[in-house]
Amino acid sequence: MAEIEKNLVIFDTDPGIDDAMALLFLKAQPSLKLAAVTTVFGNAEVDITTRNALYLTRRFGIDAPVYAGASQPLTIARRPAPTFIHGNDGLGDADLVTGFSAEPAEGHAADRIVDIVRANPGKVTLLAVAPLTNLALALQRDPSIATLVKDVVIMGGAFAWGGRRGNATPVAEANVHNDPHAADRVFTAAWPVTAIGLDVTSHCVASHEDAAELAESGGAGRFLWDISRGYEALYQRRNQVDGCCLHDVAAAAYLVAPHLFSLHSGPVRVVTEGIAIGQTIQKLDGHIFGPNAWDGHPSKLVAADADFAGIVDSYKTAIRSLG
Ligand code: BDR
Ligand code: CA
Repeated sequence: MAEIEKNLVIFDTDPGIDDAMALLFLKAQPSLKLAAVTTVFGNAEVDITTRNALYLTRRFGIDAPVYAGASQPLTIARRPAPTFIHGNDGLGDADLVTGFSAEPAEGHAADRIVDIVRANPGKVTLLAVAPLTNLALALQRDPSIATLVKDVVIMGGAFAWGGRRGNATPVAEANVHNDPHAADRVFTAAWPVTAIGLDVTSHCVASHEDAAELAESGGAGRFLWDISRGYEALYQRRNQVDGCCLHDVAAAAYLVAPHLFSLHSGPVRVVTEGIAIGQTIQKLDGHIFGPNAWDGHPSKLVAADADFAGIVDSYKTAIRSLG
């Protein structure tokens, strides 16, 4: 029987606790093939997120090259890494990556994104769950990739549908706040983009009990339990939820279960200066205003709601399947 062609995915990431959850979720999907893991600064500096991506791919037998990318935003100064969320080592300071070192594959992430997209026209989905610097650089290096990608799916922004407007500031989500100029380029480029924002992902909560059950189920669940003890405690204090928000997992889930999401269409712009820097604003298609900054920009899809329990269930099924 002919083998079913898998969907090619480039995972652009800053591991990162929920990034690690998303990577393991992706590994468990039979319909997807990871063409590459590309890393960027964000939850930690890029040498740390790259080391972590290498660790995760080696430890869990993920057969994809890891390419290191941007170490700083396009225009603004690098903001301090959120060590109070992801730990000094980016993986919860669980002492699991201490002493591990490996070299990433050759080439800058942005160049490799261009190469892979060009070699597989119409077949590659870019799944970006980190500052959008690598994607903006790839577009700058070769604008033609905009017509060659299959899709661009982002965990980023906060669109206020689900109540939440920001985590880095009252109006800005961290991935976009870390590089608002890159995010604005990605949102205004002529390629398809679907954004799964913080206002939706904040409702995708794997409870303490879910995490404990997965820890019993085997190595992947136990690993995720070990790295997420501080992350869970922070979310309990900060969001008053009994568990962890699966931000990056939710965007990954869109690739295999888009029916779990409801989406709105319209151009998106990012505020790039002032106290609202990093705010993401969508102008809905069909809404009429006077001349404005959204005019002439292509519509994007933004998640407005989702089957949160369905997303958490698909995460649990995926991690359980890894044993
Ligand atoms: C996003 O920011 C990062 O800290 C997480 O990994 C996620 O990608 C949530 O705002
Ligand atoms: Ca991330």
